Amino acid sequence: MSVTTSHAAAPAPLPPRAGTRIRLANVTKDYGLAVPAVDDVSLTIEPGEFMTLLGPSGSGKTTTLNLIAGFETLTAGTISLNGADVSELPSHKRNLGMLFQNYALFPHMTVAQNVAYPLRERKLPKADITRKVAEVLDLVQLTGRDGHFPAQLSGGQQQRVALARAIVFGPKALLLDEPLGALDRNLRATLQLEIRRIHREVGSTFVFVTHDQEEAMNLSDRIALFNNGRIEQVGTPEALYQSPETLFTARFLGDSNVFELSRVAEGTGTWEDQTWPVDSRTVSPRVGAGGRSALVVRPEDVRLVAGDGVVPPGATSVPATIRDIEYMGAYRTAVLSLGRGNAVGRARLDATESKLGIGQPVLAWWLVERQRIVAA
Ligand SMILES: Nc1ncnc2c1ncn2[C@@H]1O[C@H](COP(=O)(O)OP(=O)(O)OP(=O)(O)O)[C@@H](O)[C@H]1O
Ligand SMILES: [Mg+2]
Repeated sequence: MSVTTSHAAAPAPLPPRAGTRIRLANVTKDYGLAVPAVDDVSLTIEPGEFMTLLGPSGSGKTTTLNLIAGFETLTAGTISLNGADVSELPSHKRNLGMLFQNYALFPHMTVAQNVAYPLRERKLPKADITRKVAEVLDLVQLTGRDGHFPAQLSGGQQQRVALARAIVFGPKALLLDEPLGALDRNLRATLQLEIRRIHREVGSTFVFVTHDQEEAMNLSDRIALFNNGRIEQVGTPEALYQSPETLFTARFLGDSNVFELSRVAEGTGTWEDQTWPVDSRTVSPRVGAGGRSALVVRPEDVRLVAGDGVVPPGATSVPATIRDIEYMGAYRTAVLSLGRGNAVGRARLDATESKLGIGQPVLAWWLVERQRIVAA
């Protein structure tokens, strides 16, 4: 029987997943600073999931990872692995793999000895150690480098060794804290692909910390976005990008045009002297009655027409002036000043819009379904 797919077809069921479910319930870590480093965080990471903790510097990502690892003690809340409460369990009994930015390899040991280390600690038979080390060096594509010392390897290769050492003993989950932070841009991209492949092949739960939104979008099944010790929003990269619930999320992931609304009511939103249609389905559940809200729309969803041009019926439009045109390689971006207050905005330019130039008055427009109303 042949199967045809259509837009209406249900997605194929996911294959059964290996790995560990990590559950954080009302987790708090208070160092006695003005605000707790981690403040009442609840998060369930599914077995085999690639979860990224993303957020600005100081938002609590590393502290959260260290609490999962058992390197820090909880001020409040619980952490469980596959349903077992490990809140009081010392780090070495949690059986988790760790990978940090600085490779932390033993310099006097060869590649093979470094990778074998966790297996020797666990007193595995010699033959098993030899076999597992060979398997995992193959997985990270370092076969043949067994006898080299860390100093003889590049930064990227050293990080592969550290990765091999972190997964060779079949940990319950792998915790990675900015593991690519020290590498240059090209190497980062290569190792991102490698980590993604290894995650697929190993099938275990990965918790990955980064402050780089692009890296988070590339790698993750889901992203937990941290803001000031709290989780701002959790979801797939698409969900966070397409359906941000707050202005913080909209701004942290990608570029947004932001219009702070003075009023949202009865299917309309008010910005400056303009009243725009609002579809209730595009209003974030976090917009509370009387709370501050903003309309956000991505640059790739904004179109420009020359000042006296026509916009499609039903589209929202705002008068703007082109301030600059940025060449981005694959496309160009018009930098705009919008409305009476000259708010800064951005629109992606198509080849067909090549007639538009700097200084030109335009109408910026977008379809109502492409905008989101978020909590501001
Ligand atoms: N051992 C500690 N003692 C006191 N305060 C700490 C300690 N560790 C972290 N903090 C504070 O907790 C907050 C969160 O720090 P954390 O290292 O978790 O942030 P992060 O999101 O990993 O940031 P970055 O992206 O810079 O690594 C910061 O304000 C930090 O100063
Ligand atoms: Mg950190």
